Amino acid sequence: MNIAVQTPVASGKPASSFDQQEEGGAASTFSADIIAGLSAPQKSLPCKYLYDETGSKIFEQICELDDYYLTRTEAEIFSRHLQAIAETLGPDVTMIEPGAGNCEKAQPLLAVMDSPRAYIPIDISPEILLAAESRIESLLPGLQVTPIVGDFTAPDTWGEKIAAANQVIFFPGSTIGNFTREQAKNLLGNFAKRLSGGDALLLGVDLVKDSVILERAYHDDQHVTEAFNKNLLQRINRELGADFDLDAFAHRAFYHPLRQRVEMHLVSLKPQRVSIAGVTVQFEEGETIHTENSHKYTLQSLESMLTHAGFESRQYWTDNNKHYALCYAEIP
Ligand code: AVI
Repeated sequence: MNIAVQTPVASGKPASSFDQQEEGGAASTFSADIIAGLSAPQKSLPCKYLYDETGSKIFEQICELDDYYLTRTEAEIFSRHLQAIAETLGPDVTMIEPGAGNCEKAQPLLAVMDSPRAYIPIDISPEILLAAESRIESLLPGLQVTPIVGDFTAPDTWGEKIAAANQVIFFPGSTIGNFTREQAKNLLGNFAKRLSGGDALLLGVDLVKDSVILERAYHDDQHVTEAFNKNLLQRINRELGADFDLDAFAHRAFYHPLRQRVEMHLVSLKPQRVSIAGVTVQFEEGETIHTENSHKYTLQSLESMLTHAGFESRQYWTDNNKHYALCYAEIP
């Protein structure tokens, strides 16, 4: 069967892959999403599927690369301004971290904050949360840690609105960049709905910069990002019995200046047919599968997104090159 139609949506998540762990229907969701994405005129795949076990390990290697300045730069901003950030957050804060993963970014901040009341990491993986909970409790004895197993993109599934005063949602890592601008605004708007006046958001965002720097970050010399991108095809081969020939696709990443985003694609190097779960997908030579967007913001576009979502931005911390920003915004 040859296929066409469907408009897919790409949204992103760097922590654990939740689709595998959903109860019932997880495999069929994966297969339906893959077939739908490859049926559209511009073939695409949801970038959340980049993060299976292998993909998550490769992403950790990406974070270590010299070319991938994001992780290093965010860490530099934290270590240089840790005290100032903690003072801005203030005393008696309840910190909520959507998509917390191993919680390693929150821990140094919690360690210098003035009497944090509680830490609420949210992740879809109970195993990751359990490990993180016991690590945080041993490093910061006395801090109340209350993990929530849930989808960080759906704040309405996090349970009852947390009643505590002084709440801060902590959302580092430029994860917001993997959502379309509309999705990002909606996600932050949904975060805002969970908060009350005076509560805050601490957000990590990658900034617009020279395209050479941006493209090197997503097309590194060591081909780690290439492996990350192609792992998606390998995952489809493994989980859906597909027959993608990985050597017949090339990794491509480029900066789109009008859309202010880096796009990641897989380019078919020849005309070919691929069989996926009983469906045949046809590729022309040069045709691409769009696998990820990584949106970049200016301080102005960031401020405007925050305002639309219901926040007022109060403070930025950036590195000397203004490559990356940590933004503190409050609910007025
Ligand atoms: C997880 N996210 C913020 C990364 C990014 O920079 O958009 C994902 C990534 N894709 C390729 N390299 C890194």
